[in-house]
Amino acid sequence: MACALVLAAVCRAQRRGWWDPSACPVQLNGKTAIVTGANTGIGKFIALDFACRGARVILACRSETRGTEALKEIRQRSGNQNVHLRIIDTSSLESVRRFADQILEEEKELHILVNNAGASGLPKGITADGLEVSFATNHIGPFLLTKLLLDLLKKSAPARIVNVSSANHRRGKVDFSHFRGENLTYMMDTVYNHTKLHNVIWTNELAHRLQGTGVTANSVHPGVVMTEVMRHYNCIFRSLFNIVGIFFFKSAKEGAVSTIYCAVAEETEGITGKYFDSDCSLVLPAPETQDQAIKTKEFEYCERLTAKL
Ligand SMILES: NC(=O)c1ccc[n+]([C@@H]2O[C@H](COP(=O)([O-])OP(=O)(O)OC[C@H]3O[C@@H](n4cnc5c(N)ncnc54)[C@H](OP(=O)(O)O)[C@@H]3O)[C@@H](O)[C@H]2O)c1
Ligand SMILES: *[C@@H]1O[C@H](CO)[C@@H](O)[C@H](O)[C@H]1NC(C)=O
Ligand SMILES: *[C@@H]1O[C@H](CO)[C@@H](O)[C@H](O)[C@H]1NC(C)=O
Ligand SMILES: *[C@@H]1O[C@H](CO)[C@@H](O)[C@H](O)[C@H]1NC(C)=O
Repeated sequence: MACALVLAAVCRAQRRGWWDPSACPVQLNGKTAIVTGANTGIGKFIALDFACRGARVILACRSETRGTEALKEIRQRSGNQNVHLRIIDTSSLESVRRFADQILEEEKELHILVNNAGASGLPKGITADGLEVSFATNHIGPFLLTKLLLDLLKKSAPARIVNVSSANHRRGKVDFSHFRGENLTYMMDTVYNHTKLHNVIWTNELAHRLQGTGVTANSVHPGVVMTEVMRHYNCIFRSLFNIVGIFFFKSAKEGAVSTIYCAVAEETEGITGKYFDSDCSLVLPAPETQDQAIKTKEFEYCERLTAKL
């Protein structure tokens, strides 16, 4: 028993990493930040951190009820009333467009965009836009959102885009027919892994296209984090994840750290097109993400899929 406790303490200490958001003096007064999927899990703690630094924070959530609860909590815990809820469903191109229109109407500036919303283990499905549902949620929707907000970000430069990807991207495969739900096997997290690979490819390509604009784009791995991420898996897997997690996985607050590092730290100012590990260290992502032919095709494909008819 004592041994297990010592082991757990060592693991906890190790996974904390070296960067401590509470020791980072950066203030965000006068800055505007959008965090998607901010009502729970990692996203809620990212939004809370920005709010504590004085930013105007927009919680981009799909559920009015869940979003309102988080809004109250974040306002209360940060003492910052300049936190607002706007509705977006990243799996629907129409919803993404509506959200972006509202932002462009209401906001004069945008300094931080965190594409955090995502889901793993979603059942097979094709959206109204003809897209595979995990790809729509985790990749194409966020692609369109970023595209529509890009001019506002450029106008507000220096600005930062952070994409919450995953170490799982290393197990993903590039096959553009996946976007429409072709050639996919739905085994556990296969589809999720593919979507997270495309996140990194696109972030890299976008960073390249944004050179000289003062807008940076990076992706991060949050770590293995105890959130609702397993909600679409069966109860055996969920229980196992939660039990093992008590000892080895990060809390949602700890999972937010690598994203906050990328979004606000002085150390990451000007860095772009990179992939950060959960301990905030710079690491090389999967080789496919550096392949120029793939990156160009990624851009063309996503452009085509999100083009307005
Ligand atoms: N937890 C991990 O171990 C881990 C590891 C690697 C990467 N990640 C990534 O970290 C990010 C955050 O995940 P999490 O662990 O915090 O999971 P989570 O607790 O399940 O939170 C996911 C968030 O995304 C939102 N979301 C899901 N689908 C959406 C949609 N179609 N439109 C708008 N919002 C949507 C959820 O909203 P609702 O609550 O309304 O559903 C929720 O706010 C994800 O991108 C995930 O892939 C997590
Ligand atoms: C991340 O990368 C770009 C911004 O750099 C965005 O267009 C793309 O869709 C994002 N995907 C996610 C959620 O990782
Ligand atoms: C997805 O990635 C995770 C983490 O790298 C890996 O454990 C899992 O086996 C992958 N899933 C598939 C089906 O490749
Ligand atoms: C994907 O499926 C289509 C048919 O739906 C097929 O023509 C194509 O060759 C497949 N691609 C790969 C890479 O297997």
